[in-house]
Amino acid sequence: MNRSASAAGRSEGAAVANAPPLVAERVSKTYDDDWHKAVPVIADLSFTLEAGTIVSIVGPSGCGKTTLLNTLSGLIPPSGGDIRWHGRPLRGMPPRVGYMLQKDLLFPWRTAIANVTLGLEIAGTVPRREARERAQALFDQLGLHGFATHYPATLSGGMRQRVALARTLVVDPEVLLLDEPFAALDFQTKLLIEGDTARLVRDQHRAALLITHDVEEAVSLSDRVIVLTRRPCRIRSVYDIELEGDRADMMAARDSRQFTDYVRAIWRDLEVGRA
Ligand SMILES: Nc1ncnc2c1ncn2[C@@H]1O[C@H](COP(=O)(O)OP(=O)(O)OP(=O)(O)O)[C@@H](O)[C@H]1O
Ligand SMILES: [Mg+2]
Repeated sequence: MNRSASAAGRSEGAAVANAPPLVAERVSKTYDDDWHKAVPVIADLSFTLEAGTIVSIVGPSGCGKTTLLNTLSGLIPPSGGDIRWHGRPLRGMPPRVGYMLQKDLLFPWRTAIANVTLGLEIAGTVPRREARERAQALFDQLGLHGFATHYPATLSGGMRQRVALARTLVVDPEVLLLDEPFAALDFQTKLLIEGDTARLVRDQHRAALLITHDVEEAVSLSDRVIVLTRRPCRIRSVYDIELEGDRADMMAARDSRQFTDYVRAIWRDLEVGRA
């Protein structure tokens, strides 16, 4: 490599080091239906996920939210547009990303804790004992104490979802992609885990992209809420959420002055989208 090329390489490296965790530019996705007819699902989406922030996506059922996460995570290829992780074009599953799928997809033949440690076992980067300790700590934090050796079939829907969340967090991801992660939790547990997620992301400069149907959750937890239109989805509106008080305290967030205004405005946008 000549000197100018290597200098260019260095400056590109620096740019990548400072790049946001995720940038999506004009992303589109079209499926072929059973009759090979093209079904556009994502029309044209652009947004940036900055480090230390939580972005929520809300939109009508079937508008393409799960498809979007599958595309961003490299599980399915986009039909158009650019996806960059830490400044580099997406190739395969990006590193240090924890993706919690909408379905919990736990292995029925493994105990709850063995489901959680599976990713670390496969990666082989953490000793077995440490993997179990990390998983156990998450079980305690997520209110699953005493259920480590239960099989998924003997757990409630909400418990299985918490096991799936523990499985996502145990690999210590820098970026979280979460598809309705808290939907099956009771209200108190939900607020506590949302608070934990907020602290994890903001204090440790990680990032989270969250899909939810719960507008109040989106507003209380997020720095930004993106509202999508019906399928094929595009961005209807974007709200930068500014609330007073401790942003890791979900009750305080809900009590803050501006909270209801955001919730109403987002509901209105969703209603317009249904028409
Ligand atoms: N593999 C696939 N092949 C063809 N069409 C698909 C495929 N997966 C999803 N779709 C269609 O794409 C559209 C969007 O589905 P998707 O699961 O992304 O919606 P969603 O916004 O996550 O919905 P929900 O809020 O109900 O979870 C739906 O019409 C669905 O039928
Ligand atoms: Mg979905």
